[in-house]
Amino acid sequence: MLECLTVFLGFISVLLFCAFCSRRRKDGEPPLIKGWIPFVGKALEFRKNSQQFLSQLQQEHGDIFTVLIAGRYITFIMNPFLYPSVIKHGKQLDFHKFSDSAASRTFGYPPVQSSLFPGMSDSIQRSYTLLQGSALDLLTFSMMGNLQQVLRCRFLSSEESGSDGHWQEAELYEFCKCVMFQATFNTLYGHSANLCLDQLREDIEKFDGIFPLLMARVPIALLGKTKEIREKLIRFFYPQRMAEWRAPCQFIQTRMDLFQQYDTLQDRDKAAHHFAMLWAAVGNTIPAAFWCLYHLISCPEALEAVRAEIINVVGEKNMKLIFEEDITITRQQLEQMVNLESSINESFRLSSVSMNIRIVQEDFCLRLDAQNSINLRKDDIVALYPQSTHLDPEIYDQPQRFQFDRFVEDGREKTDFYKCGQKVRYYRMPFGSGATQCPGRFFAMNELKQFVCAALLMCEMQLPENQQEAMLDNSRAGLGIMPPVNPITFKYRTKKTGANMKREQ
Ligand code: HEM
Ligand SMILES: *[C@@H]1O[C@H](CO)[C@@H](O)[C@H](O)[C@H]1NC(C)=O
Repeated sequence: MLECLTVFLGFISVLLFCAFCSRRRKDGEPPLIKGWIPFVGKALEFRKNSQQFLSQLQQEHGDIFTVLIAGRYITFIMNPFLYPSVIKHGKQLDFHKFSDSAASRTFGYPPVQSSLFPGMSDSIQRSYTLLQGSALDLLTFSMMGNLQQVLRCRFLSSEESGSDGHWQEAELYEFCKCVMFQATFNTLYGHSANLCLDQLREDIEKFDGIFPLLMARVPIALLGKTKEIREKLIRFFYPQRMAEWRAPCQFIQTRMDLFQQYDTLQDRDKAAHHFAMLWAAVGNTIPAAFWCLYHLISCPEALEAVRAEIINVVGEKNMKLIFEEDITITRQQLEQMVNLESSINESFRLSSVSMNIRIVQEDFCLRLDAQNSINLRKDDIVALYPQSTHLDPEIYDQPQRFQFDRFVEDGREKTDFYKCGQKVRYYRMPFGSGATQCPGRFFAMNELKQFVCAALLMCEMQLPENQQEAMLDNSRAGLGIMPPVNPITFKYRTKKTGANMKREQ
């Protein structure tokens, strides 16, 4: 696969050599950094460690600069005080056109904004309200049931009879993947006895491994078996199959009905949309679940505070019942868990490397603040890189450290963070910004809380001593929550009492 890529990039670079070499910085434009390989530009350095690469450029060139990365000129805005002007210029700095073409290329469906599908884009945007508000109550209820079912099954099956209370070992990321994937799938798409979700998950993981290259516009034909895997994933969601799944959530049901209204949409295209949504729903949530649980069990003080908060809200009685029957934790109860919420946000801060991308629609001059404006060219990319804010030592004391209550003050959420004496508005943005923020963010937040609640209510967890710390997989920088690169073993012991055990047999 790498050979293919090299050949491809080589080929393109020769082709585009002249065109790209000709670009020179014009007056009023940010400093331009091209690298010595045409087309590829600084792509390799960027991929290796983007945070380090960008902060080095920031030191050399200031808060605003343009870099050639894989054939695109990207202007980075590295100062959070300048974010608002980018977020506000929705008209000249568009997100949807870019995400539509990137998503359609990546997941293999025709662009939503095409004239073949009048009104579809707006209807899809409207369907996102079904991930929020009162619809979220139902999703939360359903997720809680599914999580408990999956976790119970997992904990009880790995337990040899009579060995209750013994420590067992597992790999933490694998654990998070299995549990979150199945519970999220069932909550969104429903249930069916005939589905092999483990196989589906494996195929999504394979696809996800290639995802950065697809986003970088490497044609899928050059990526080995990727196309085959993608077609297999799409086949999973054909309408006639989905019709047999029991109780999909209102959001997915609405999307099924919506796609049904378009004769111009083939069954395969509908299926590709459903596949894309599953990817969006699990792609970031699973690594986020990992980091949250990992940081909590790495830090006894945090674990104790969060556990106490959960038991306080849920009640001891429910805690004891969890192996016997489904307990409910309402959305309102989840909202009370401020230490848990802060821990999740702190994990986001440390692991979110999503880039906020906008495409310049016309040549224009972007006014950033009283002192700064820059000229931008049509089709260039403007990017916010929140990780540099997330790790800014002026905003966050000891930024590399996980501090579970960083976002709590006097028992409530803390929202005032300062840089150079000035209050920062955008100090943490794992879900994007402005009008294009992730529509699943409320559901995701709840899911993560529920996952931690259920896992901590069901068992004790520890990390064995002398284990290497979990490290971020930087090769995926720009694309969301980073997964860990190295395996992490954890020990767990269910809290199921002997009495409960007998009753069940
Ligand atoms: C920890 C979990 C999650 C994170 C960190 C996350 C992050 C993001 C980000 C950064 C974007 C792009 C927004 C932008 O660039 O302005 C996005 C878009 C999106 N996310 Fe999420 N997301 C998460 C979970 C979910 C879930 C659970 C769902 C669905 C159930 C979901 C559905 C979507 C959709 C549909 C979009 C595209 C929106 C559009 O094109 O208008 N996400 N997400
Ligand atoms: C955590 O982050 C979410 C989403 O960004 C936000 O709505 C919430 O208020 C934050 N809570 C805390 C305690 O930081």
